[in-house]
Amino acid sequence: MSTTTELAQAALATLSLRPVEEQDKKQEEPYRYAHLLPHFSQDHYPPLTPFDHVDPGQRALSHANPRSFLDSASVVELTPNLGSEVRGVNLAELNADARDQLALEVARRGLVVFKDQQDFIDRGPEFYKTWGSYFGRLHIHPTSGHPEGYPEFHLVYRDANSTFNFEIDDSITTTVWHSDVSYELQPPGLTTFFLLSQPTTGGDTLFTSQVSTLKKLSPQFVAFLRTLKAVHSGVEQADFSRTGRRGGIVRREPVENVHPVVRRHPVTGEEALYVNRQFTRRIVGLKREESGSFLYPKSAPRSQLKTVSENILKFLYDHIDKSADNQARVKWQPNTVVLWDNRITAHSAIVDYKNSGERRHGARITPQAERPIGSEGLDLTS
Ligand SMILES: [Fe+2]
Repeated sequence: MSTTTELAQAALATLSLRPVEEQDKKQEEPYRYAHLLPHFSQDHYPPLTPFDHVDPGQRALSHANPRSFLDSASVVELTPNLGSEVRGVNLAELNADARDQLALEVARRGLVVFKDQQDFIDRGPEFYKTWGSYFGRLHIHPTSGHPEGYPEFHLVYRDANSTFNFEIDDSITTTVWHSDVSYELQPPGLTTFFLLSQPTTGGDTLFTSQVSTLKKLSPQFVAFLRTLKAVHSGVEQADFSRTGRRGGIVRREPVENVHPVVRRHPVTGEEALYVNRQFTRRIVGLKREESGSFLYPKSAPRSQLKTVSENILKFLYDHIDKSADNQARVKWQPNTVVLWDNRITAHSAIVDYKNSGERRHGARITPQAERPIGSEGLDLTS
């Protein structure tokens, strides 16, 4: 009969062997999504051209029951004003009518998390293209890695040996709130994102409602913000790649565009704050004294002023950062597919899993939408 000590030793031996065996097994198996690993083609693309966007959610507005695609689903609201979690819907099988409803639902909830979507994920890139094209012209990212032959998909990727993400090393946090590629003239609307591989723990994504962010402000301040427009820039993102990081490729020259600081959703009519720390650079038209800053002498050249709008943007960024009451957090269980409306939300990756060396591999399908709509009379020509 074994002693207690012998039993404990045997149990320990089993425990210590198991991870090694599993690791060996993992290394032997070919990676299931190897065909979707980041590829950095040397292609160069011309500037994007304007196009007319028709939002599928608009069609669902006249539907007798615009949520009928959820009739047999289980829906849990993640927070009162942002995010739903859905089980019991196979996204890959939705017909056109249901996709219209989906676009409206995401516009209303900002973020919808669909569980158990292996069918969707495993249908592959030709299907992803058809899926995304239904919602708008697919954006081709100027600097990201993409699956070979499929520049329409933006990939995020990190493993023990490499990262192809936009990650700043000398910061106290990896939190960078942003709306994707807001520097484009027609930034993305309904966006689909899923992970092909995820760490055991960590790598969650934060979301915030820019509708709620705006609503927290006083009516007087919102009225002022409606009169403002801001420059969004892709230059820094391109420069990051030009330094050799993130694949080191810039396939389309970076652009800057002017957008309203408060934009209106074309389908729901809801207003949302539309500035973000990653891409918004300055508010157009304010004078230096209006910054309220005494750090810069009046005689200082404009280049030393950074921007006169710094105080307002800093206040808005701080408001976005610290308003947990507007935020939701998505944990990436296997086969989760998330959709968000990039026009009315912001999000941030959380890179807290570096030390695990585990792979995080995600794909984004990014249809562009309309040029942001500001308040009536706001001139966006400059
Ligand atoms: Fe993003």
